[in-house]
Amino acid sequence: MGPLRKNPLTMNEFSFDLSAYLNENKILVEKFLAKILSQFDPGRELVQAMAHSLMAGGKRLRPVLGLAAAGACGGNPLAALPACCAIEMIHTYSLIHDDLPAMDNDDLRRGLPTCHKKFSEPTAILAGDALLTHAFSVLTQPEIIFDSYPDKEILLKLVARISDAAGVNGMVEGQMLDMHALSFEGKESKEKSGNKEALLNHLKKIHGLKTGRMICVSVEAGALSAGANSHMCDSLMLYAENIGLAFQVMDDILNVEGDPEIMGKAAGSDALNDKMTFPSILGLDESKTYARHLVDTAVTAIEGFDRKADPLRAIARYIINRDH
Ligand code: IPE
Ligand code: IPE
Ligand code: MG
Ligand code: MG
Repeated sequence: MGPLRKNPLTMNEFSFDLSAYLNENKILVEKFLAKILSQFDPGRELVQAMAHSLMAGGKRLRPVLGLAAAGACGGNPLAALPACCAIEMIHTYSLIHDDLPAMDNDDLRRGLPTCHKKFSEPTAILAGDALLTHAFSVLTQPEIIFDSYPDKEILLKLVARISDAAGVNGMVEGQMLDMHALSFEGKESKEKSGNKEALLNHLKKIHGLKTGRMICVSVEAGALSAGANSHMCDSLMLYAENIGLAFQVMDDILNVEGDPEIMGKAAGSDALNDKMTFPSILGLDESKTYARHLVDTAVTAIEGFDRKADPLRAIARYIINRDH
């Protein structure tokens, strides 16, 4: 079976120009991220380190998902921007810490030296801390930066949902479990033979927490900001859980066969670090089949939505056709 990428970022089966949509929204999000940073003296080393990682590019998938979810629910996508920017700040903090020598010890991120390589380990730790903390300041005082934002009750709910997804029951716990997850090859053969199913379930749990929760809350935050009803939210959550898992399965696949030049980060590191991944348990072909199945399930979950959900449908396909 060949690679999943066949025609990335071109018109797809929904005749929807995803490339233009992603570009437009990436520019919009980056304009506001820059505005958030411009509140601080650019001469400060802490601010420079925050800006180095936050403005380094990146796909901006989570904020774009938030905007797309708001649009799918018929709301004003601009009202979702505060939550989308906060989520991207939290995601960037998680990458800075993930790359530290104490964690994955990576030198390259978003095509640039990692924060600790460019600055220092203590500065990178603090830049991550500052991005995380300031994300909640953005959410609770959106009027400083944004023209559109949800009312106070929804903002409070967003703080609760985003902090839950990022923290002790979400991404941070996923990182904790990931840290201790030995590769399938690394397991004793006795343990291997009877336990493939159990290992897979454990890996799904890790991925669901370390990557899935932040992707789910991006979709949820967009829907909540747009005033979606609970029926819409339920379908969107099923969509998000499936694309969240597909995204991390694809990340594992790209770590095996991706091009570091295109990805802007190292490939081959999972095998080097003896990590438990989908390709290490299922093999590459079965991992790709599984990723496709997850995306099909996600698209089916939102079949009740009208054409305004086309960006969400196209993003789901893009997740497994991407090359970075
Ligand atoms: C990388 O996330 C970390 C994972 C959760 C797999 P992205 O692939 O979304 O990274 P950026 O934001 O585009 O750099
Ligand atoms: C990063 O996961 C996930 C988070 C930062 C929460 P990985 O370590 O698998 O991702 P990459 O390959 O460094 O982007
Ligand atoms: Mg990691
Ligand atoms: Mg990593």
